[in-house]
Amino acid sequence: MRTVRAPATSANLGSGFDVFGVALDRPADVVRVEKADETTIEVTGVGSQYIPEDPEKNVVGAVAEALDAPAHIRIDKGVRPSSGLGSSAASSAAAALALNGLYDRGYSRRELVPIAAEGEAVVSGEAHSDNVAPALLGGFTVARHGGVTAVDAEIPLVACLPEIAVSTRDARRVVPSRADMDDVVHTVGSAATLAVGMCRSDPELVGAGMDERIVTPARAELITGYHDVRDAALEAGATGVTVSGAGPSLLAVCGDADRARVASAMLDAFEDVGVDARAYQTKVGAGATFH
Ligand code: HSE
Repeated sequence: MRTVRAPATSANLGSGFDVFGVALDRPADVVRVEKADETTIEVTGVGSQYIPEDPEKNVVGAVAEALDAPAHIRIDKGVRPSSGLGSSAASSAAAALALNGLYDRGYSRRELVPIAAEGEAVVSGEAHSDNVAPALLGGFTVARHGGVTAVDAEIPLVACLPEIAVSTRDARRVVPSRADMDDVVHTVGSAATLAVGMCRSDPELVGAGMDERIVTPARAELITGYHDVRDAALEAGATGVTVSGAGPSLLAVCGDADRARVASAMLDAFEDVGVDARAYQTKVGAGATFH
């Protein structure tokens, strides 16, 4: 038997669409695997009522098949589905690491990234690795076709999750297929700034680098109260705020001393527009760990 905890993640961070990701210190999924003749899945925890237990339809079924590792898999969800916090990636990454250990497959964490991404294809139709990479490797990650680069960073964050469901599929439908060159240049500048900020553990640079004008404005329309909540967080001391992943969570960067104030400002602003929400006071964290 093996048990693995894998963290929530945020990917994208505004400017790094489908490329940047971070592991969040909390929340997390916990996955336990035991050898079996065929794969069966049991799901408990946050939002488990919306997650299919059929191995053909659950992300971890695809991971078990890719590793040729049939097992009874128990998923205890800490990351709500359709939250923009890498819920499916947390389960996929945890299952990949746990099954790799259970069956002595010998893959490195980096080698497990494309395997865990097979699970992502089940939910979003595409095998993205921008969430599974930080869920496995931890820190800030840059996922591109040639592989993944990961660095550790000390950055305080607030992830604010409203009681709104936005599926990754729907959020991808609103992404424009073309962009204006001025906006592309702006995004490259932001992305470079954000990456330097992560390498320096500098919340000012990371916050500045979240500014993005191509994907984020289209997705913000799907989130009731986005602009009010963003403004409230910035006023409370956040250095940058953007849509976390495909949404509806918002991710704010701030200094350590401002984190509690930013979290409560975001919750108040959602409440003012009639939306229940919860805020995770978190930070860039480690990748999946064995329990
Ligand atoms: N980066 C993806 C998106 C999320 O923003 O649509 C899942 O990989």
